[in-house]
Amino acid sequence: MSDFKHLLSLQDLTQEQILGLLELAAKIKKTPADYGQTLAGKSVVTLFEKPSLRTRVTFDIGINRLGGHAVYLDQQNGAMGERESVKDFASNITRWADAIVARVFSHKTLQTLREHSSVPIINSLCDLYHPCQGLADFQTIAEHYSDLSKVKLAYLGDGNNVTHSLLLGGAILGMEVAAVCPLGSSPDAQVVQKANQLAKAHGGKIVVTNTVEDIKGYDVVYGDTWVSMGDDTPLQSVKDKFMAYQINQNLMQQCGINHVLHCQPAHRELEITSEVMDGPQSLIFDQAENRMHAQNAVLVSLLS
Ligand code: CP
Ligand code: NVA
Repeated sequence: MSDFKHLLSLQDLTQEQILGLLELAAKIKKTPADYGQTLAGKSVVTLFEKPSLRTRVTFDIGINRLGGHAVYLDQQNGAMGERESVKDFASNITRWADAIVARVFSHKTLQTLREHSSVPIINSLCDLYHPCQGLADFQTIAEHYSDLSKVKLAYLGDGNNVTHSLLLGGAILGMEVAAVCPLGSSPDAQVVQKANQLAKAHGGKIVVTNTVEDIKGYDVVYGDTWVSMGDDTPLQSVKDKFMAYQINQNLMQQCGINHVLHCQPAHRELEITSEVMDGPQSLIFDQAENRMHAQNAVLVSLLS
């Protein structure tokens, strides 16, 4: 299954590779002891230019559960590229570590790391994509729907890195994925074009709309913050623009939605109400748990 060398975006993977990762993630979740020594003697540098709870903790604990060692690097030594170049970061770390996980402002930084690294680079969020999140999301959906290609998934809110990974990954899996975003906040046009191509090739469908009514009969809705990290627009100032896209009980009922996801951190009573987030249709904390299993599947595939 695994002949990929890095994970920068889900669009670089085939359907077989994504399904293989999801299957492996489910196995690791079910029988973790079988994988307890998979990364024995291996070290992974996790490098963060931005804050994190889920990603930092799931990589650290996940690597530990695979028998490996995680080294966390934040920006206390200066942002990457300031104290020394991104190229030199890569050229040094690659001499010590067996893989580099990186959360960065710009996708270009990941491309530079990849160019100068002899070990795998794993994107743990950039301005354009959040592939580890996407894998955990598809794993979570697969726990409730046996055939992902029959699932209709709607993302509501700001068209961002998470939206892009859902569109691209969902397209490869043959799903119907809708991005329901207010005017001016649609996902990146090039990403949508690529997702459309991939959907066509795999029997999926991509919908980009401003109209919430368009997702009637969808299976799963998905929320994320209305203002992503790195954008200093105050969240309260965009409330009027986005409030019609809030995930609440009314939306769930009116559109006949079965399940709800949110990558978190969540801003309760803004993009999602507590009633829905803590309600019976929420898979949000399963999804957070699955971050670890999905990422471990990536690490096992790349490193063992
Ligand atoms: N969903 C996610 O990536 O969460 P963190 O930003 O807390 O890592
Ligand atoms: N779109 C969000 C995702 C956070 C996990 C951000 O980039 O801040």
